[in-house]
Amino acid sequence: MTNEFVARLPLDENITRGAQIWVEINGARVQGFEGESVAAILMAENLSALRTTQNGEPRGVYCGMGVCFDCLVVVDDIPNTRACMTWATDGMKISTQEGLKASN
Ligand code: FES
Repeated sequence: MTNEFVARLPLDENITRGAQIWVEINGARVQGFEGESVAAILMAENLSALRTTQNGEPRGVYCGMGVCFDCLVVVDDIPNTRACMTWATDGMKISTQEGLKASN
């Protein structure tokens, strides 16, 4: 996973970040910060297509507030997790998702 484009605001006296955490996205170790949603980390890594529909069409963060369900990903083996409504935690394993998955 490339880290060339990082979509985070630059820090200044008005912007602070939580402690550094590490998550895994599709098998790659990626830096995040406490207080970020899974969607924020995915977008910071320039990942815009987070899942596909059952017809294979890409979907990503759209509403950013838990309404559209276009940001579904697999988090720690739990499919259909809304990335925009899930706080990232250290060691979390995130993967993009194809279609809808049956919950375990
Ligand atoms: S972006 Fe709409 S539910 Fe997550």
